[in-house]
Amino acid sequence: MWFAILLCLGIQTIMAGKAPVIELNDGNKIPVVALGTGRGTAKDAPIDEVRQAVLWAIEEGYRHIDTAAIYHDEPQVGQGIADAIAKGLVKREDLFVTTKLWNDRHAQDQVVPALRESLKRLCLDYVDLFLIHFPISLNADGSPSDVDYVETWRGMEEAKMLGLAKSIGVSNFNSSQLDRLFQNSQVKPAVNQVEVNPTLTQEPLVSHCQKLGVAVMAYSPFGFLVSRDTKDSPPPRIDDPTLVAIANKYGKSTSQVVLRYLLDRGLIIIPKSTNQKRLAQNLDLFDFKLTAEEVATIGQFNKNVRVIDPKTWKDFPNYPFERD
Ligand SMILES: NC(=O)c1ccc[n+]([C@@H]2O[C@H](COP(=O)([O-])OP(=O)(O)OC[C@H]3O[C@@H](n4cnc5c(N)ncnc54)[C@H](OP(=O)(O)O)[C@@H]3O)[C@@H](O)[C@H]2O)c1
Repeated sequence: MWFAILLCLGIQTIMAGKAPVIELNDGNKIPVVALGTGRGTAKDAPIDEVRQAVLWAIEEGYRHIDTAAIYHDEPQVGQGIADAIAKGLVKREDLFVTTKLWNDRHAQDQVVPALRESLKRLCLDYVDLFLIHFPISLNADGSPSDVDYVETWRGMEEAKMLGLAKSIGVSNFNSSQLDRLFQNSQVKPAVNQVEVNPTLTQEPLVSHCQKLGVAVMAYSPFGFLVSRDTKDSPPPRIDDPTLVAIANKYGKSTSQVVLRYLLDRGLIIIPKSTNQKRLAQNLDLFDFKLTAEEVATIGQFNKNVRVIDPKTWKDFPNYPFERD
């Protein structure tokens, strides 16, 4: 049924599991919903929490999983994928796996070895997408390093040439950093993964990426809606009346409305959940669409406030965000 609705809405209808795919600037195809796994391994979390979530997600119809070396959960992601393949649910080529290079492996000759280590932890021969996690370079002790991300990009290009990463991209790059990379690269970044949610709508950066043909992956898509729901958190929260009214109209939850808002802006979303019901809900988004007015209304929550705000790096070279 939702397939027919997609057709009526004129949305691309090539599907991977239950999510449509879009084409990247290198011709590869990416599912527009990824399971987020960062922060899945809280200190008191069950030991197999991420492995179980990945298996549930694939059973549910997710075909894109987002991880990173710094999440320390690549082994569990790999096990969840292996479980799904062993159960005959999918083949490796049906899945899209994204991982990221951490800031202390930015020298050109460190990039391919770092990716090989990720692949070993994931028990995979290649990833579908490999991202520079931040434009900031660190030494092993966490102090700032002066390695230029343009140099790091040369290593990323090598990773692609070797077939270890089908697509390459960046994360947390601002517009001028992206421009500089465009001017100094053979292979153009396919993706910029940045925070986007109702409290940080990022219109200028998103439209800049879209003009360049760089797909935007929206991390922390719920913003302060759920887990950061403290008395000091900016709205909207899960019971926000504006969101509740839109949710009631479509028979959806407010969290689904927020995810749909991001999809309707042409973004790839990365909701994280290790809860079977919630991760199913986060993929049940393709039988409705917001109006342009509803998208604009949700955009009015913008406060330019970040969930992920690594101010400890604010004096380091290439810090990409506002400094105050
Ligand atoms: N590139 C980067 O620098 C970067 C930075 C941050 C994040 N990321 C990626 O983006 C992913 C998502 O970001 P995030 O983890 O910061 O935040 P998020 O996905 O916006 O929020 C996750 C929180 O929402 C809860 N939740 C999930 N679905 C829900 C639902 N339907 N209703 C109510 N609560 C729900 C989760 O709890 P339960 O698990 O209990 O459901 C969890 O506490 C990460 O996991 C990671 O893969 C990338």
